Amino acid sequence: MSGARTLRLSRKVRRKCPESEPPLEIMPFKVRPYRSSDSEAVSQICRQSPEAAQWPKESYEQAHSSGQIVLIAVLDAQVCGFLIARVSGGEAEILNTAIDPAHRRKGVGSLLLTTAISEAQVHNAKSIYLEVRESNRAAISFYSRHGFVKTAERRGYYSTPTENAVVMKKLTA
Ligand SMILES: CC(C)(COP(=O)(O)OP(=O)(O)OC[C@H]1O[C@@H](n2cnc3c(N)ncnc32)[C@H](O)[C@@H]1OP(=O)(O)O)[C@@H](O)C(=O)NCCC(=O)NCCS
Repeated sequence: MSGARTLRLSRKVRRKCPESEPPLEIMPFKVRPYRSSDSEAVSQICRQSPEAAQWPKESYEQAHSSGQIVLIAVLDAQVCGFLIARVSGGEAEILNTAIDPAHRRKGVGSLLLTTAISEAQVHNAKSIYLEVRESNRAAISFYSRHGFVKTAERRGYYSTPTENAVVMKKLTA
């Protein structure tokens, strides 16, 4: 990844900002590669996001050192989201992503996702896919917004609670 990417906020996103908060257009969210010191902050966001895969803290370091795409969204150096993906056989898979609940619907997830897609293309991925719980309407809506379409259903794929997975895919070539 050649450097941090800054989020350019749409007028619609700016309108959502309550007057009591700093205007969103001066909240420069950026995406950068993972650093070892991020693992605690990423774990904390995961704990606050029960819809995300609950990985042990050391998994993020392992994902990074094994060459997976591990992206971190920051606001003023504070970690506010992450995304992990891998590329294999010309196909990318989003393995996990979550945004700090205090920073959702501000475009941070989109910034991470579009950056991951660009990274996957650099690694010759022709498509990108993911699995999501069928009850996770927010994530399904989010991925649909980015052009992913449902390609399959995996019955009973998830446990505690048992639930079907929806497979969603987007062509990137
Ligand atoms: C899914 C998630 C990553 C989205 O991140 P985000 O930063 O809030 O998403 P964005 O602000 O970039 O949203 C872009 C678009 O996605 C859609 N979207 C995002 N969240 C949505 C929600 N809760 N309900 C409906 N649509 C939603 C909207 O179309 C949104 O555009 P809009 O805000 O202009 O309407 C975030 O909700 C999250 O962390 N969820 C918990 C963890 C999770 O579910 N991970 C995915 C497991 S596969």
